[in-house]
Amino acid sequence: MKAITVTPLVEGSVGLEDIEEPDPASGSVLVQTVAVGVCGTDIEITSGQYGWAPSGSKKLVLGHESIGRVLEAPEGSGFVKGDFVVGIVRRPDPMPCYSCAAGEWDNCHNGMYVEHGIKELDGFMRERYRADANALVKVDPGLGKLGVLLEPTTIVAKAWEDVTRIGNRSHWEPKAVLITGAGPVGLLAALLGRQAGLEVHVIDQVTSGIKPELVSMIGAVYHATDMKEAVSSPDIIIECTGVPALVFEATQQIGTGGVVCLTGVSSAGHTTDIDVGLWNRDLVLSNKAIVGSVNANKRHYEAASEALSKAPREFLEKMITKSVPFTDYQEAFNHGTQDVKVIIEFADI
Ligand code: BGC
Repeated sequence: MKAITVTPLVEGSVGLEDIEEPDPASGSVLVQTVAVGVCGTDIEITSGQYGWAPSGSKKLVLGHESIGRVLEAPEGSGFVKGDFVVGIVRRPDPMPCYSCAAGEWDNCHNGMYVEHGIKELDGFMRERYRADANALVKVDPGLGKLGVLLEPTTIVAKAWEDVTRIGNRSHWEPKAVLITGAGPVGLLAALLGRQAGLEVHVIDQVTSGIKPELVSMIGAVYHATDMKEAVSSPDIIIECTGVPALVFEATQQIGTGGVVCLTGVSSAGHTTDIDVGLWNRDLVLSNKAIVGSVNANKRHYEAASEALSKAPREFLEKMITKSVPFTDYQEAFNHGTQDVKVIIEFADI
């Protein structure tokens, strides 16, 4: 069968190749991949900056944002042929640490976790894969291929859970939310903010095209301005770009008692002169909180699944701006400036 692979840390090594059928030892449920999304992490991996091959292999099968259909499942597994499923990206470390033991692998403490398509575990950009039932999540069949948006939604479901838990450390009545970046993560974070009944502002650089339209489709406000002009002293900022200047600015612009959640992974090597004394004084005297948030556990997959089922279908459809067959995979790694989510298709549904 065909798979899209890379040699981690080797730029330009992405390719389409023939690999073995999935090893039965890798799980009792056989899944046919329908589509896989491409995200910033995949681009980092294909540009040689991130990623780890499985032990004993030089290559890694890419892809962690998947939607597939069950081809075979044992009785009693909870799955039947034809179910739409998403593979959970991170798998617990083998020790396991106390978080992984409690099913919270997203907070793994010893770094020995593995991630499909990213860290030491082959990903979903292959025609078929196998997984254990507990590593799969059933998706509303009504979503069809749009289920490919589930994994990025889990990331923001976790971010929102973090924000809400921290905010509720005291009596809290948040109103205004600022989201930085109208990419897939930013848009999905905005969607969940709107579903929670909050006033949501999204900033990005573009002044035309699909991004402003998508933001207004969910009743949020789009701004091609800086943070200060978009909304002053918001209660919540979800930073979805990882752009160092924006990350720091978010910690300065957050309102009293507010929460900044950082979800974008930035590269090292960005330094700046800051008045740490002033910055610290402001954070302390105004009870401001900053939290980093990565990955997602089963609870977040469930929350994400519910959020997608309730989302306007047209919004989800329009988020997918490009869809290419796996044979044209190279096109998927050349994001246009107007692209939101690009997906690679492996099978028709
Ligand atoms: C994925 C997460 C993963 C993170 C770090 C993100 O792109 O969506 O599941 O934990 O990268 O590897």
